[in-house]
Amino acid sequence: MKDAKTFKVKNICCIGAGYVGGPTMAVIAKYCPDINVFVVDIDKQKISNWNNKDLNKLPVFEPNLDQIIEKCRDKNLFFSHEIEKYISIADIVFISVNTPTKVRGFGAGKASDLKWVEACARQVANFARNHTIVVEKSTLPVRTAEVIQNILEIAQRRTKENNEAPTFDVLSNPEFLSEGTAINDLKNPDRVLIGGNNNKAIKTLSAIYENWVSKDKILETNIWSSELAKLTSNAFLAQRISSINSISAICESTGADVREVSRAIGKDTRIGSKFLDSGPGFGGSCFKKDILNLVYIAKFYGLNEVADFWESVVNINTWHQSRISQLVIKNLFGTLAGKKIVILGFAFKANTNDTRESAAIQICKDLINEGANLIINDPKVSSNQITHDLEMEQLNTKLEENSFYNNNGLGSWSFSKNIDIEIFEDAYAVLVLTEWPQYSMINWKKIAKKMIQPGWIFDSRSILDSEEVKNAELNLWRVGDGS
Ligand code: NAD
Ligand code: UGA
Repeated sequence: MKDAKTFKVKNICCIGAGYVGGPTMAVIAKYCPDINVFVVDIDKQKISNWNNKDLNKLPVFEPNLDQIIEKCRDKNLFFSHEIEKYISIADIVFISVNTPTKVRGFGAGKASDLKWVEACARQVANFARNHTIVVEKSTLPVRTAEVIQNILEIAQRRTKENNEAPTFDVLSNPEFLSEGTAINDLKNPDRVLIGGNNNKAIKTLSAIYENWVSKDKILETNIWSSELAKLTSNAFLAQRISSINSISAICESTGADVREVSRAIGKDTRIGSKFLDSGPGFGGSCFKKDILNLVYIAKFYGLNEVADFWESVVNINTWHQSRISQLVIKNLFGTLAGKKIVILGFAFKANTNDTRESAAIQICKDLINEGANLIINDPKVSSNQITHDLEMEQLNTKLEENSFYNNNGLGSWSFSKNIDIEIFEDAYAVLVLTEWPQYSMINWKKIAKKMIQPGWIFDSRSILDSEEVKNAELNLWRVGDGS
């Protein structure tokens, strides 16, 4: 009976082997051993890294992802750059490509750049055979499905002349995983959202998820609600972070403690306790771009007050990051020229190697512009990635040779793979920017002896034992701690 109501699915193709495509398809392959899952990408290097025998070289670091890759790769999970080939045999094509903010033209700085999505739709239009369900996995502006549908229809009209027209259904199935917990989020999602018009196509996709997700967690909506729900979900989450970060500034001025405030308000079941941790400002590839996209849509429909409301969430985040940079400068007597500062953490959160929109990028740039010489450590981010993000090569010569006299006042940075005591030698300050657990185990008494006094520790993640830091006779600033 079930088969009669669903399309048969033997092969899945996912276009885009990034942070979403890779882990999501790995989990589908794990729970659907009878389906072949092909993950394709134009980036040949990335595909080769996904196929690397050394699982430490996978392009995405996610806890427990390597185990699934080891189990399924080359059995029913394949990574390839042969995009046309796998589109042509796919019963379902997931579009999981990047949708960053447009950098030029109309809507620049706010609207999503859909050129990658359009390219995918054209590829599907050109190479699909038979019936294909096209699934929007990328986060997209409301009504993008219409664009995809239009492109696919053109292909249908053209190939009809040859009597071999493929047919298509377009579904929206946004992804809600968080990096760092992606595998767990995919295995135990709060919900799976499927938006579409054709019941048979919706049931087909739903049947895939039903292999491991209970039916009551699979929500079916119309396609526009599904697209908008994804943007709204990210906007609400980011809004909570901007709200609590704005309160952290009030705490610091009034003697309150933001952790206590969070705990107190989080007990209200109407508010809930999650996403109330004040930090250095939200990062990640999506919150900012998705809110700006919402702002763009609101403006497009003439809803200027709505646009202003959501834009303020991003504005507070930017302000909060620069507030932290300014605090460091102020506490180090108004100048960072030639001063060594140790940066602990560069990823936008712990348990990922992703640095996109990480608060650390702007904060480090601010400090370097003030003349500081940074030593940056992150357990998963490479020095090449930091070079790319800071748009600046790391220092090769010894730190002492790079005084502010010979570099027009601009500071420098260099990478340290470890957090051995030597890196703290003659440092004026240490900034904790990512909540990697190893940073909370540092022996501050030993480090204090190496630092220039008065030594400052800036804990933007509230992960350090404040008593230990203070007992080491170091000055401590913790976000939102006015006590
Ligand atoms: P990503 O940049 O990590 O990966 C996208 C991949 O698509 C890249 O490897 C790129 O080479 C490839 N690509 C682009 N155009 C292509 C084409 N025409 N053919 C083949 N490959 C192509 O991006 P991501 O983080 O995986 O995000 C993908 C989408 O998912 C975005 O819309 C994002 O908003 C959304 N999303 C991301 C997350 C997250 O945690 N990163 C979570 C939920 C949703
Ligand atoms: C976020 C959402 O949580 C996912 O549901 C969504 O699928 C994803 O965006 C997306 O669409 O890309 P992600 O960005 O991976 O996931 O990570 P989060 O855990 O949401 O953290 C985002 C940022 O907010 C990080 O910089 C994090 O440190 C910060 N954050 C988070 C806080 O400052 N405080 C908190 O209480 C929670």
